[in-house]
Amino acid sequence: MRGNRLLMREALSNLIDNAVKYVPPGGRITVRAGGEALGNRGMAVVMIEDNGPGISPQRREEVFKRFFRGDRQGDQAPATQTAGAGLGLAIVHEIIGLHHGTIRIEDVPAADAAAAQAPAVSERRPTMRFVIRIPCEAAGRAA
Ligand SMILES: Nc1ncnc2c1ncn2[C@@H]1O[C@H](COP(=O)(O)OP(=O)(O)OP(=O)(O)O)[C@@H](O)[C@H]1O
Ligand SMILES: [Mg+2]
Repeated sequence: MRGNRLLMREALSNLIDNAVKYVPPGGRITVRAGGEALGNRGMAVVMIEDNGPGISPQRREEVFKRFFRGDRQGDQAPATQTAGAGLGLAIVHEIIGLHHGTIRIEDVPAADAAAAQAPAVSERRPTMRFVIRIPCEAAGRAA
């Protein structure tokens, strides 16, 4: 894909930073990159998945808003125990938008989860993943 290297690096490192921050020790973080066809367009696809506490379906839109941080309620990560401004995902959302792409949070399908499981690490299966799709042809306003 064509895009702004610095901004894409910022977006991906924010997502990986979150995974490292919110997944308890012994957890598992998997990053996948590949391509996909959407009609006659090529899409670059990056997925960052983890087997931490996850983000509940009701929160999956608001986490991308500025200053949103998880609390101790529900199945949110105990964000009050970790430092942060609640800006990371808002920045990621902005950067992906500049590249005409999309980012969403999905549940990890069982088959993929089984494939990602290594016996020696945590027994827990991945809960969710951030999925980024960016059209390959688009230079992006950020380029
Ligand atoms: N991988 C994850 N697992 C569980 N919860 C997550 C994960 N990533 C993000 N979250 C939740 O989404 C909230 C918003 O994330 P975001 O990256 O925007 O802010 P932050 O990590 O709290 O602070 P900052 O990134 O500004 O340092 C987090 O506070 C956390 O509750
Ligand atoms: Mg963050």
